[in-house]
This record gives sequence, structure tokens and C-alpha cells, in this order.
Amino acid sequence: MFPKNAWYIACTPDELADGPLGRSLCGQRVALYRGAGGQVAALEDFCPHRGAALSLGRVVGDNLMCGYHGLVMGCDGKTVSMPMQRVGGFPCIRSYPVVERHGFVWLWPGDAALADEAAIPALPWSDNPEWAFGGGLYHIGCDYRLMVDNLMDLTHEAYVHVGSIGQDEIDASPVRTRMEGETVVTSRIMQNVTAPPFWQDAMRANGLDPDAPVDRWQISRFTAPSHVLIDVGVALAGKGGFEAAPEYKASAVVVDFMTPETETSHWYFWGMARHFKPEDAALTATIREGQGRIFSQDLDVLEAQQRNLRTFPDRRLLALNIDAGGVQARRIIDRLVQAEKTMTTAADAAEAQLA
Ligand code: FES
Ligand SMILES: [Fe+2]
Repeated sequence: MFPKNAWYIACTPDELADGPLGRSLCGQRVALYRGAGGQVAALEDFCPHRGAALSLGRVVGDNLMCGYHGLVMGCDGKTVSMPMQRVGGFPCIRSYPVVERHGFVWLWPGDAALADEAAIPALPWSDNPEWAFGGGLYHIGCDYRLMVDNLMDLTHEAYVHVGSIGQDEIDASPVRTRMEGETVVTSRIMQNVTAPPFWQDAMRANGLDPDAPVDRWQISRFTAPSHVLIDVGVALAGKGGFEAAPEYKASAVVVDFMTPETETSHWYFWGMARHFKPEDAALTATIREGQGRIFSQDLDVLEAQQRNLRTFPDRRLLALNIDAGGVQARRIIDRLVQAEKTMTTAADAAEAQLA
């Protein structure tokens, strides 16, 4: 269950460096490519001749040539040419609104008339030299909402991520969930604790004593359709925590963009935007590698959870106070999906009346 009238990340620009990319996004097969002019385009991955996957073809100028019999498809979904054929009557295929911004390629899988570029989230670190970003992509065999639950309730760190970001004090610190407009915010503050290994490394890298007591924060923010940005970090105890001056803390934003593939699988674009030592490329690589390892632990848990839910679809699950962030996020998703259904029904009814 996912809203379609929304911007989702389809891929990163480097994935288009060697030619077209075929990817299922929100239940639709899409061919993405970069034309000779540098513009990214997204088409239904379906050749109108015999249904071959256009993504297996190659880019010719700003068009995409089917690799089966040479049909040349334009970025607007209209056939441009085909050897020895008149193409004027060929059926069009779908083209998708697509925008390259903030180091990602964003795609709108719903009604193209509603696509508004202004709705692409602002990522303030993406072109700010005071920040560094490193990230990656996982394909995960579970409903993207299970990942939203996971990120909106970081209690699991104490169990899933022992030895890196997990620590016992997580369980002892209450979690609070609130709404800020259309954003769900879940936060947990740990005061006067020893930093776990991942954050000790970050403190060391930022010139802080890794054994010093710290105040640690985790503030998860969900916005529709499936974006979770998490303020994380540690500051020397008593210096103001999240609000502490830069010299007393190591802070970052965990970046999570989930793009549904099917109802039970998704593309997980993860990363960390760091607000200390941005010029240190080796540190970026080390953090990226550590984060990738940590997130692969979630992957195992979530895929096994999805298998259970598929096997026992009628089992009742509990919703505890720690689950409030995920519950609120699902309410927003449900509302959006319902609104799209109502819109489609109204449009169908209007069409039927005209017919
Ligand atoms: S299937 Fe694409 S040209 Fe024939
Ligand atoms: Fe996790």
C-alpha cells in the first residue's frame, strides 16, 4: 500500500553512468536513462513493438533504442523511428516526471499532471560544504512500511546493533512521539552515558575524548510518502545535547528514503550526512562502511519479519507505546492512499457520465 502521487527516489545518478537502468518502482517497470544532453528520462519499460524491455537497449542521443529490433523511443513516450517502418500510428508508452536533485533521481509514479517539483524535499546538506554525505542502496524483501516502523522506533538498536550503536541505556530512556504539522517526530534522549562504539569513533575523529560522558539524541522525522531523516549524535554531557556548540559534539543526519518496489519489497536509499570534518573523505568512507554493516543487520530482521507476516497474515500484532511513531506514519500513508482512491473513483464516475 503506497501513495502514487508523490516523489520517490528512483536511483542515484551513478547508476545511469553505463547506460539505461530497468527498475520496478511502485509496482511499475520503469526504464531510466540519461540522454546525450545530460537530461534524465524515465519511460515505461515496454517496447510498443513486441514488449521487449527498453532498458536492455541503448541510449541514442536523447532517445532510447530498443535492443530487440531497433525501435527508437523518445523521452516523451512517442516512437521516433524504426528501421523500414512508418511509426506515426504506433501507440505511445508512458513517460514519467523525473527530476535530478540533491544527488538523487526523483520519480513521480502517479498522475503526471499533479507532479510539482516544489514538493521534492529540501536536503539542506546536499550543496553545503559544511556537510559531507555518504550512502548506499539496499534491495529489501519487505513492505517499506516495516522499514518505516524500524526507523521510527530505535529501541531495536539495543538488540539488533549490539557493538556499534546499541547500548543498554536505550531501553531505560523513554521515547516521545509528537506531530509537527505533517511530520511525525519520535525522539529519545540519553543523558550522561558512555557513547557506544560507533559514536566513540566519531568523537575521536572530531577531536573529542571518546570516554567522556555524553548526552546522546535520536530524533526521527517521518514525512510522506516514505522519508525518514534522523538527527543523531552525542555531545559532551551538560553542554546542551542536540543544541550544543559544534566543538562539543559529533552530530549527523541519518538519511532514509524508501521506494516501494512491490507490496512486499522496496529499495532502501540510506546514508549519513555528517556535520563534522566534512573534508575528511576517508572518514566518510569509514562511516559509510560502518553504516552499511549496521543496516544490513536490519535487513535480515525485516525480511524474516515479512516472511512471518506473509505466512500468518491474520495474526494480531501489538502496538505498544514504542510503536507510536510507526503507527502515526501509517495513518498518514493510509489517508493519502484513501484520498487517491476517492479521487480515482470520482474521475471514473465523471468519465462514465460523459460516455
Ligand atoms: S520489441 Fe522493441 S523493436 Fe521489437
Ligand atoms: Fe537499525
